[in-house]
Amino acid sequence: MTVSEVRKRYLDFFTTRGHVAIPSAPVVPENDPSTLFTSSGMQPLVPYLLGQPHPEGSRLVDSQMCFRAEDIEEIGDNRHTTFFEMLGNWSLGDYFKKEQLPWVFELLTSKSEGFGLDPARLYVTVFDGDETVGMPLDEEAVGIWQGLFAAKGISAGLARVGTEENGYRRGMKDGERIFAYGSKKNWWSRAGIPAKMPAGEPGGPDSEVFYDFNLPHDKAFGEHCHPNCDCGRFIEVGNSVFMQFIKRGDGSFAELPKQNVDFGGGLERLTAATLDNPDVFLVDVFDAARTVLEQRSGKRYQDPEATRSFRIILDHMRAASFMLASGVVPGNTEQGYVLRRLIRRSIREADKLGIKEAVLAEVADGFGAAYADQYPFVTDAHDFIADELAKEEVQFRKTLTNGLRQFEKTEWMGVPDEPLPTGDRSTPVAGQAAKMLPAEVVFDLYTTYGFPIEMTEEIARERGIRVAPGVDRLMKEHQEKSRAGAAQKFAGGLADHQAQTIKYHTAHHLLLKALQMVLGPEVHQRGSNITSERLRIDFSYGEKMTPEQKAAVENIVNEKLSEALPVVRSVMAKEDAEKLGAEHEFGARYPEQVSVYSVGPRGATEADPRFSESFSIEFCGGPHVANTSELREGGKRFEIQKEEASSAGVRRIKAVLR
Ligand code: ALA
Repeated sequence: MTVSEVRKRYLDFFTTRGHVAIPSAPVVPENDPSTLFTSSGMQPLVPYLLGQPHPEGSRLVDSQMCFRAEDIEEIGDNRHTTFFEMLGNWSLGDYFKKEQLPWVFELLTSKSEGFGLDPARLYVTVFDGDETVGMPLDEEAVGIWQGLFAAKGISAGLARVGTEENGYRRGMKDGERIFAYGSKKNWWSRAGIPAKMPAGEPGGPDSEVFYDFNLPHDKAFGEHCHPNCDCGRFIEVGNSVFMQFIKRGDGSFAELPKQNVDFGGGLERLTAATLDNPDVFLVDVFDAARTVLEQRSGKRYQDPEATRSFRIILDHMRAASFMLASGVVPGNTEQGYVLRRLIRRSIREADKLGIKEAVLAEVADGFGAAYADQYPFVTDAHDFIADELAKEEVQFRKTLTNGLRQFEKTEWMGVPDEPLPTGDRSTPVAGQAAKMLPAEVVFDLYTTYGFPIEMTEEIARERGIRVAPGVDRLMKEHQEKSRAGAAQKFAGGLADHQAQTIKYHTAHHLLLKALQMVLGPEVHQRGSNITSERLRIDFSYGEKMTPEQKAAVENIVNEKLSEALPVVRSVMAKEDAEKLGAEHEFGARYPEQVSVYSVGPRGATEADPRFSESFSIEFCGGPHVANTSELREGGKRFEIQKEEASSAGVRRIKAVLR
């Protein structure tokens, strides 16, 4: 089946059973500062799982776009993807185990309404109990599964794996089909096991279904195979969570007012099961993009040395397309940084495949086409996606080769005798711990060549080299220094960082904008000097200002102080700042990544600077006050003290707050 067919069959199966289909929530959540991405189907539904009535009723079904940043490093095997769709059906205090498990079984095995999978290829897991929540083995689930398999002539034996830390020690015995695991595997909450859940978080025992792809066991993953073994023989295709508990403030558990079901099924994995092919990258939505990569590299996806790179690019470019279409742009913080990591890592993998010219926009095109029916917002964002990817690729390809050369030239450190402190970013490789990459090199590759820290760590890992501790410390010092350094570079230099000087710095931005409004847009800064006593600005303008013009400028600045506007710092690519029309200093040279300060509008924040409504936007390293109202403290007003000629075509103003 195709991904679209599987999605449709799933939605139809549950709408036929009284569920209302609801659309996917955005993958970049709106108005939820607590999380960068939607990472499970239940996330947008938390209020309803906690008891709030849902406008569409108590039986819902959906296919939710999800992104899991924590899986970025896993990409490369046959079944992990960072972006995926999670099929979900929901009982909000409606049905429970005895309806849910038979439906899942029917969905998976029915040829007419479901996916027609062979029941003999299905293995299931149940909760083995946990004292901390006072729950024993989920015998009800065991009984239901045994009945379902028996109806197909399969006797389903129970194996209690329990809380075994290292997997399954004795190997699967004939006839075993239901595996009971402890909380690590069969308790679901967003935070993991019961002990890790914060107060107020819902969770519960679950029951997963695995599809047996009939591959030989790979002993690299443990002596014996079992459903939760990671060797790739068994792949989880669905999980029914019996969301019935909430953690109390004192750490104990209470029953939720209603018992809920939260089913999550990986759309791509289910599609792979219908094709009886364990490689999720061979489902149809990847076809067009994979073909682009094959044509451009001259390599085949199946070539053993190429497969991993193909998978990384395919996964990352699909995720990047959805993020860009959702309005995220590459940057140095939050979602923007995750996106940048995805793009830059893909560029490196493309380079490894021998693709030396820009290719990402073309790969992304393949996804725009594949999702035209279900997610037209991705297809519609085609030009924006292509532009952003091309920009990032041109920029990073310029530095990639030199950065890699720099990496190869590194003088490796020996490994110290004493154990490395915990919490560092070192990445030991078994049996190959003879060399270490100095933290300074990782840092330098970041600042000079734009290598995301995690990418350098990966390059080191690939070569069996561990990273010396200290990267985090250097990054922190850098952030502090670049703030101070940028402030010093500010024309003429900020004399110091006293509170008053910082206020004058913000007043300086307001003044420049007010001058442009009164005298004309051709006014630009030519020099500046700020102390805790006053500010001074030199600006391009050919004539003496009239008293009216000076009064008008003062009024505008004072108005902006009264309006109490937020002052927001953003970090972005130089080009993007230029596009915003950010004011920059004459003749100054800026790095590829710049810091920009915008003033206003009210309600602007770092997460949502609302540039189109800003009063002023300038390239600037700061520092600044957080809000223009701080300049009025003590009843102060902005006042121009002097306006005079500085040099030909340049005027100078001295101004104070008093
Ligand atoms: N909420 C469950 C999961 O994400 C279904 O696996």
